[in-house]
Amino acid sequence: MRRIEVDLRSDTVTKPTPGMRRAMCEAEVGDDVLGDDPTVNKLQAMIAEMAGKEAALFVPSGTMSNQIAIKVHTQPGDEVICERDCHIFNYECGAPALVSSVQLMPVSGYRGIMDVDEVRRAIRVPNIHHPRSRLIVVENTHNRAGGTIYPIEEIKRIYKVAKEYGLKLHLDGARLWNAHVETGISIREYSSYFDTVSLCFSKGLGAPVGSILVGDKEVIDMAKRVRKFLGGGMRQAGILASACIYAVGHHISRLKEDHANAKKLAIGVNEIDGLNVDMEAVQTNIVMIDIEREDIDAYKLCDMLLERGIGMLPVREKRVRAVTNLNVSEADIDRTIDVLNEVFS
Ligand SMILES: Cc1ncc(COP(=O)(O)O)c(C=O)c1O
Repeated sequence: MRRIEVDLRSDTVTKPTPGMRRAMCEAEVGDDVLGDDPTVNKLQAMIAEMAGKEAALFVPSGTMSNQIAIKVHTQPGDEVICERDCHIFNYECGAPALVSSVQLMPVSGYRGIMDVDEVRRAIRVPNIHHPRSRLIVVENTHNRAGGTIYPIEEIKRIYKVAKEYGLKLHLDGARLWNAHVETGISIREYSSYFDTVSLCFSKGLGAPVGSILVGDKEVIDMAKRVRKFLGGGMRQAGILASACIYAVGHHISRLKEDHANAKKLAIGVNEIDGLNVDMEAVQTNIVMIDIEREDIDAYKLCDMLLERGIGMLPVREKRVRAVTNLNVSEADIDRTIDVLNEVFS
């Protein structure tokens, strides 16, 4: 099979840069399960401060971070309100049922964004027959909707409803960095509306491994115990944390380049007969390409692209996803548009 030269399958495919690798080599380390890895402690303090929260916990993945949050906020039998296309409902292997014994209450969104009235309607009236509504999860940016950004006003409305009903609020902010650079709204302001926030370093920021959960001290103490029983306690994890510190220091503002590349790709694709992109959904680094030709489906298109050295992922029968990232240049975008033109001509 031909080597992928332009890898748009995900922003998780990035390789650590030389500077990041140097930082990893030089990292001071200790046993983090015993709490004495100075680099992990530094990362946790740095992100807690950035998010305006009391504490933070470094974890191996975004999935673990979300699942720990669900576990610490709920009791078995509780219900978690989330958007229908969100990551925790679609891509975390049913873990809320496995780890926390909770059930999910999915709400339809528009481009992944839940309307506050829908959220309000999903909250259970106390009744002996009902599960107890306990937690609302918001995903910003929204992966499956194509990297869409939650309007801050909608977040504030959901926050008010959560307060009114005494519900906890968790933010799956795997790509909150992308929302932050695009809107100029700080990580601290976004985080102020949530009890816990999960952020990933291994997506657009380009670190090889790592996510973090922030919240108040009591919640993060509980989270640490959950991380341990899930097998996520890591020892000399400073090697990984140093890559995350480097990523935060060097790779946040450059996400704008990924966003510009995504827009360029979307515009180029929209000019090709047989392909269509919902331009209003292209707000950050993800482009969802819909195929409008009978004879090609998403799997066939991805195979044809692969034969030409371009990687994209099928997400539905007639939809392909392209995610711009640290390892994709503007010239790579030009080449991708040329290849798509060739395939569809
Ligand atoms: C929105 C969102 N949340 C969580 C995750 C899970 O992250 P991980 O792959 O590190 O478990 C992803 C992964 O792509 C994601 O897109």
